[in-house]
Amino acid sequence: MFLLLYITLFFVRVVTPSLTTDYYQTLISERTTQAQVYELPETNSEFATSDEPTDFGSYDFIIAGAGSAGSVLASRLSEIDDWRILLLEAGGEEDDFNAIPGMFPYLQFSEMNWGYYTTPQANCCLGMRDYKCMAPRGKSIGGSSAINAVLYVRGNAEDYDKWVQLGNPGWSYEEVLPYFMKSENSQIRGNGGYHGKGGFWGVEHATPYSDLFDVFVEANDALNQSNIDYNGAGQIGVSKTQLSIKHGKRQSAGTAFLDNARKRSNLEVVTGALVTRVNINEETKRAEGVEFATKEQKFRVSATKEVLVAAGAINTPQLLMLSGVGPAKHLQELGINVIAELPVGQNLMEHPQFLGLTFHTNYSAQGSNFDDTIEQYLQGSGPLTSTAEALGFLHGDSIDGTPTIMYAFSPPSGSSSPIVARMYNYNDNLIENYLNTLNPSSDVSFSLILLHQKSRGSVTLKSSNPIDFPNVDLNMFEEEEDVDDFVKGIDFVLDLVQTDPFQRINATFVDIPVCGEFEKFSREFWGCAVRHMSMTLYHPCGTTAMGLSEENSVVDSSLKVHGIASLRVVDAGIFPSTISGPTNAAVIMVAEKIADVIKNEYGFK
Ligand SMILES: Cc1cc2nc3c(=O)[nH]c(=O)nc-3n(C[C@H](O)[C@H](O)[C@H](O)COP(=O)(O)OP(=O)(O)OC[C@H]3O[C@@H](n4cnc5c(N)ncnc54)[C@H](O)[C@@H]3O)c2cc1C
Ligand SMILES: *[C@@H]1O[C@H](CO)[C@@H](O)[C@H](O)[C@H]1NC(C)=O
Ligand SMILES: *[C@@H]1O[C@H](CO)[C@@H](O)[C@H](O)[C@H]1NC(C)=O
Ligand SMILES: *[C@@H]1O[C@H](CO)[C@@H](O)[C@H](O)[C@H]1NC(C)=O
Repeated sequence: MFLLLYITLFFVRVVTPSLTTDYYQTLISERTTQAQVYELPETNSEFATSDEPTDFGSYDFIIAGAGSAGSVLASRLSEIDDWRILLLEAGGEEDDFNAIPGMFPYLQFSEMNWGYYTTPQANCCLGMRDYKCMAPRGKSIGGSSAINAVLYVRGNAEDYDKWVQLGNPGWSYEEVLPYFMKSENSQIRGNGGYHGKGGFWGVEHATPYSDLFDVFVEANDALNQSNIDYNGAGQIGVSKTQLSIKHGKRQSAGTAFLDNARKRSNLEVVTGALVTRVNINEETKRAEGVEFATKEQKFRVSATKEVLVAAGAINTPQLLMLSGVGPAKHLQELGINVIAELPVGQNLMEHPQFLGLTFHTNYSAQGSNFDDTIEQYLQGSGPLTSTAEALGFLHGDSIDGTPTIMYAFSPPSGSSSPIVARMYNYNDNLIENYLNTLNPSSDVSFSLILLHQKSRGSVTLKSSNPIDFPNVDLNMFEEEEDVDDFVKGIDFVLDLVQTDPFQRINATFVDIPVCGEFEKFSREFWGCAVRHMSMTLYHPCGTTAMGLSEENSVVDSSLKVHGIASLRVVDAGIFPSTISGPTNAAVIMVAEKIADVIKNEYGFK
């Protein structure tokens, strides 16, 4: 779906570039080259996890993970001068390379990604090597928001009202909208009353737009999908993408929320620190602190008020299970002492993304010159500042306002990227007979995202050793209904390219080299295609869901772990049901809101 740039190592210098241009040329050339040969780690063996712990003292709050949620929490809680806060992050710092939105695919092949793949899949990822999809997760200050595709989407009002219906008071759209707006410093001209202007987090459109943006909008208009502000009064329709960028540079939770807070003396941030366990007193069932390992040694640190786990929807369940909180049978099998039996790691929700909708056209895009592209980036515009040009949201059969499908439109970029095959983990057939046959100067593609799947996956432990990666079982399309919903979205895109605007550029479907045994364009054909050529949009959530009962939820509506005192989970894992869009803005909203809940509980406004 994403606008990808081919970076050539040997470029002709038309004019003598400025020093800054020079710096970026070298940076981009070096990092994109490294990414192509970078070997992802398979364990956490870089950390000294088996040493005897040394005492690291005591803090009011310990936050595990400086990702989207952790950065916001650390920033907001350290506003209280009296509180001493320790923020522990396994990864390192952000830099000038990950600030470039257009470079996001390359970040997955760097130390900023944990390096996970899914377990071999039975119903999805069938066109991928070993039937495994990548499951990238950010590993640095900013977490996944430091490597993500910067799409800024909040989801639908009804998504949050549903959270309330599921037993979580306080999370209705009316109650969470102020927190979305609190974070935001929006430069877009959207619907009045829906956008914050004075927050820490920049939201902009990227410029300029391709000629084909108007084709996309006109075609959608012909099918009653109007041009709207999808973060405004209604979500169904299409729009230029709203991006979390500032003057064209990435705004991660780190750069937006943490950079300033780190100047405070009551906030200590330790990078390169893997939290290996939450210490929970077995008698009192209270979280007393954590253990963490750096590359050199291991530490123990205590929390006088609370431990806040913000390690993300894959690592948080791993950490809780290593600490004795999880499904009893699973923990016992691995020899872990069970302190609280809860469905940790179950209910893994994702947003499946189908990649098989590319169309040849007779439009021709100009490739951009590398120097010019960098000059543009330094001015805050151009292809390096963007990841996806336009998004659309589509009703399924539902009569309410909640979309079932999101679609992203990518006009031809003029050049192909060597990293895509690695990023999709396509097998040789899909690389040779599909990816390599596409024409980057004239093909347009749509990526289709299923917003509310019924199938559920899981995160489980491989062993009781924190050095081992967890098992990530996506299990997409176990439910046939999910395939049906996806096929409706495919039918819509096929209708879209039949409209006059797309026919004027002679859009024609590019055949896919799988599922030839089925009648082309039949339900069976698409069902098979979807299972072969779908990955995720990188939105794992729900693995420590909030709710009322200990049978099917892990935290309550103030994100306290059921049955354990002084322990909260604050990250994408707490979503009780899927939201109608990418997850980052919602995670940041959750952290903003819980920071206020915590302040109130301790008597601060
Ligand atoms: C490639 C990619 C593209 C995406 N694109 C978009 C997009 O365009 N728009 C959007 O809205 N969303 C997108 N997302 C999703 C979004 O970024 C995430 O949902 C969001 O960042 C999750 O926030 P979090 O706080 O739950 O976890 P994270 O941001 O992942 O933070 C977890 C942090 O904890 C640290 N950590 C983990 N375990 C430990 C441990 N044991 N000890 C210490 N530290 C630990 C991690 O290193 C990380 O920094 C994307 C995600 C990815 C990976
Ligand atoms: C679009 O809406 C109009 C007016 O409501 C209706 O007549 C028409 O059938 C709709 N077209 C499509 C493709 O849904
Ligand atoms: C349209 O595309 C098809 C398939 O690529 C091709 O056969 C045909 O000649 C094209 N027509 C025009 C008018 O470009
Ligand atoms: C592209 O194809 C359409 C027909 O589908 C044709 O009308 C148009 O002239 C073609 N344009 C170019 C530049 O070939």
